[in-house]
Amino acid sequence: MPRVVFVQPTGESQTVDVAPGTSLMTAAVKHGVEGIIGECGGVCMCATCHIYVREEFLDRLPAIRDTEEAVLDVTNAERLPNSRLSCQIKMTEALDGLTVEIPPSQR
Ligand code: FES
Repeated sequence: MPRVVFVQPTGESQTVDVAPGTSLMTAAVKHGVEGIIGECGGVCMCATCHIYVREEFLDRLPAIRDTEEAVLDVTNAERLPNSRLSCQIKMTEALDGLTVEIPPSQR
């Protein structure tokens, strides 16, 4: 099963098996990854699932849709060029090893 690595601002990391088709947010909440809350349940309204994606994985991700774009503009944590909402990224085999960072202000 493909894996995702969640890296905390402290540098600690947690590697999680994620079934293809499952969102990163759902996997993070299920495994108790700190800093990912998923308050809206994954409908792209809360931004409590904000992550920073490691540069080398950015071009493997689906494009940002208008709704995600709008929510990223009002996140609590600073928006960076590699910001995404983890509820909008569904796992695939091609994303195995995907590494994402939790914004410091979400801890
Ligand atoms: S879980 Fe609410 S925007 Fe992602």
